Amino acid sequence: MKKEDNSFVLRGAVVYSGSETELMAYEDAFVVCVNGVSEGVFTELPEVYKALPLTDAGGMLIMPGMTDLHIHAPQYALRGSYMDLELLPWLNSYVFPEEASYADLGYAKKAYEIFATEMRSGATARACVFATAHQEATLLLMEMLEESGLMTFVGKVNMDRNVPDYYAESTEQSLLATREWLEAVQNKGFKKTRPILTPRFTPSCSRELMQGLGKLAAEYDLPVQSHLSENLSEIDFVKELEPDVSCYADSYLRAGLMGKDRPCVMAHCVWSDETEAEMLKDNGAFIAHSPESNINLCSGVAPVKRYLAEGMHVGLATDVSAGTSASMFAAIRNAIYASKLRFRLYDENTAPLSFPEAFYIATKGGGAFFGKAGSFEKGYLFDALILDDASIPTARTGLSVSERAERFIYLGSEQLIRAKYVSGERVF
Ligand code: GUN
Ligand code: FE
Repeated sequence: MKKEDNSFVLRGAVVYSGSETELMAYEDAFVVCVNGVSEGVFTELPEVYKALPLTDAGGMLIMPGMTDLHIHAPQYALRGSYMDLELLPWLNSYVFPEEASYADLGYAKKAYEIFATEMRSGATARACVFATAHQEATLLLMEMLEESGLMTFVGKVNMDRNVPDYYAESTEQSLLATREWLEAVQNKGFKKTRPILTPRFTPSCSRELMQGLGKLAAEYDLPVQSHLSENLSEIDFVKELEPDVSCYADSYLRAGLMGKDRPCVMAHCVWSDETEAEMLKDNGAFIAHSPESNINLCSGVAPVKRYLAEGMHVGLATDVSAGTSASMFAAIRNAIYASKLRFRLYDENTAPLSFPEAFYIATKGGGAFFGKAGSFEKGYLFDALILDDASIPTARTGLSVSERAERFIYLGSEQLIRAKYVSGERVF
């Protein structure tokens, strides 16, 4: 077997999602990466791989890198602040003024450097990222993420209505700036950073803008990300603005921003009814579940267990800064906590999420938006974390690997990530 830089073997206590409900766990196993792709997990290393360089993690946990399916880079500076309002007034009072400041490239550079550095050191291997409406600052963010080692989709945000003058674009400006941004991205030749069309949400995008973006999506063959059915006042506003759609999701569908051949991520889907859920399923849309954001903005809690049972695509997201933290470990915990309160307080027909289910949406569920990612099964892009759970003291001995993984997610932190690989490249 030919040795390549990104062909190697890791040895340790391996854990990954076999399916939505099942964790695969191996006390002492070998995970093989050839040219950035997993060859699978082996309890005995096959002869053909013995010439590859081996890193022995000394019994530490090895799990797949995670996918943050929805995060706002320019809101990173707002983390931990302004949790006193619901979605629409929160956007107007705090988010739009902060995002508008990215017109200043000096500020954008300072803020995005912090964001890119922290994303690099976290558990996130892949992410779908909202930038701001500014094309230059968005390009700058993409340059920084390209250097971070992460694989990302990044979008210049589009908005032409219900946004304060200091931040709004006209429909024509928004479409033209998006085209210019896409051309500039093509010239950059990024390898890890791809563009994604990003109409902010229906309240801030006119029908004309959505249709123009739908045409751009087809012309450049681009995926789409947006927000959907997050907060009750937002949903009422959409009914007022677009009285002739069959459901909120239809406002994206009719513009070609969702479709069988148009991959899309819709953040939240807290209040999607059966019509909307069916539309999302039929069109292969990915739901970005953002539990901490759902709580902070008093939005509600998405019925993730039901979406999974219906065979829909669900990934996990931090949604910074409506979510305070970019930690995917925290997001897994929050998904479980939120699902338990939801079950007890308002829907005993939808069971809480189990640990394997929450782990699944953080890895394989969201990873699927990037192709085969978030697992160590053969053929998956090789994203891995080595985690030092032995540094979290306990008197207990003989814990199974699944127990160790769960304990790490509840008690561990980003500081205990000892190595991170994305598509076979060691990030640190
Ligand atoms: N809907 C439209 N914009 C936003 C945003 O920035 N954050 C959240 N959570 N929801 C939104
Ligand atoms: Fe969001």
